[in-house]
Amino acid sequence: MERISTGLPKLDSKLEGGYPKGKGILISGNTGSGKTILGLHLLYQACKSGKNCMFIATEETTEDILLQAESLGLDLRPFYDDGNLVIQRVYEERVYEAISNVEWGTESSKMSTNIIQLKDIIVGKNDIVVIDNIGVFTPTILLDEFRSQFDALNHMLSKRNYTTIFIIDETSNKRTEYIAAYSVYGVIKVSKKENPYTNKHERTLEVVKMRNTQIPEEPMKFKIQPNKGIDFISG
Ligand SMILES: Nc1ncnc2c1ncn2[C@@H]1O[C@H](COP(=O)(O)OP(=O)(O)OP(=O)(O)O)[C@@H](O)[C@H]1O
Ligand SMILES: [Mg+2]
Repeated sequence: MERISTGLPKLDSKLEGGYPKGKGILISGNTGSGKTILGLHLLYQACKSGKNCMFIATEETTEDILLQAESLGLDLRPFYDDGNLVIQRVYEERVYEAISNVEWGTESSKMSTNIIQLKDIIVGKNDIVVIDNIGVFTPTILLDEFRSQFDALNHMLSKRNYTTIFIIDETSNKRTEYIAAYSVYGVIKVSKKENPYTNKHERTLEVVKMRNTQIPEEPMKFKIQPNKGIDFISG
């Protein structure tokens, strides 16, 4: 099976070369755990090797994403400028809707972009798609509706041969009873916990499942370093 480098050599070596090509992978984790950064490593590596990438951002502006990547030594700006990396923002739409709800006193309604509608945004010749964060589509959706829409989207993107990373925050993942994990090919969970003895944050990356792949038995510990990004602690 063909693999796509995660952008992290140590993780690649634990995943038989990387993410399975043309499949959907779910990345879950609590806030600040490193979900977005894991996606940025993939995008940087893929762009460097001449692949076409798309980042669907629901929570951050394009400038924030580029600055965040740059601070980790992952300079995506040249690829963005050249059009190899397309950043699509669902963000503004959401903010404008919230503002208009406040101004007009309307009920906070469903988001105008629905999860299945992403299929119309994610078009063109892409090798890699990162959707950060599908959790924003979950608050008002019924569970079975979320499942059928998510499964359909995952299926469609796989058929288009896109290697897709779906990022979901832990709160939304819990709210949707972790059902997104079933239809995807792989699931990675990152977490950040405080060690009560040292008062320091400890980060781990766990491969929960990866079809067709022998997965690491233990969670991998890592740090996030300036100009470097995710740095696995050997062991
Ligand atoms: N340049 C940097 N140097 C060191 N650490 C950094 C740097 N940039 C970000 N970080 C660390 O990475 C964390 C954010 O990681 P990331 O944005 O991937 O988390 P996330 O799981 O996507 O969180 P969110 O819930 O905000 O989406 C920051 O809280 C910080 O601890
Ligand atoms: Mg994030």
